[in-house]
Amino acid sequence: MEQKVELSPGDAAKAFPAFPVVLVAMGDTERNIITVGIVHAMSLKPAIVGIGVAPSRHSHKLLQKYPDFSVNIPGKELLDQVNLCGSKSGKDVDKFKEAGLTAVKGKKIASPVVGECIVTIECNKTGSLDIGDRTWFFGDIVYAEASKNYTRDKGLLYWGGEYRLPSKVIRRR
Ligand SMILES: Cc1cc2nc3c(=O)[nH]c(=O)nc-3n(C[C@H](O)[C@H](O)[C@H](O)COP(=O)(O)O)c2cc1C
Repeated sequence: MEQKVELSPGDAAKAFPAFPVVLVAMGDTERNIITVGIVHAMSLKPAIVGIGVAPSRHSHKLLQKYPDFSVNIPGKELLDQVNLCGSKSGKDVDKFKEAGLTAVKGKKIASPVVGECIVTIECNKTGSLDIGDRTWFFGDIVYAEASKNYTRDKGLLYWGGEYRLPSKVIRRR
């Protein structure tokens, strides 16, 4: 066994290799996009995704207000846009315009999806839960699309200030 060093709780939370990073879009006339690295598939049957959004974000207000949102998986060619949507606030700018991203009408929800993303997932908000410094918003997946050549290794990962690509599959379960 290797020798261990003690980590603070904060450093332990940062020790995870990485999580997926997504663009979440919501609203209609006051639509917005936010970059979210705290995202998970909470349930498979029914398929429910969860996103952790801090109350200080403009998106938090919109996620509370609107009944649906979309979770969009960007590829590495959207890194600049992901960074922009994760550093500017929709309170001050229209991030769709500023990032040059296309708001495509959702098929089953009123919120837009992000046209340039390789997977777009439409969700009806089913609930929320305040945990620590985030609110988890949960959404039932009601419709989704993927680029024809989509594979999981094309999504982006992020944690601890670093963007990564998923590495190769090293074994099947
Ligand atoms: C890679 C990355 C991941 C992020 N993940 C989250 C997250 O999971 N939850 C969150 O509340 N903010 C997250 N942020 C910060 C928000 O995206 C950022 O504060 C954004 O400007 C908020 O926009 P808004 O005010 O328009 O909602 C992340 C930012 C980046 C760059």
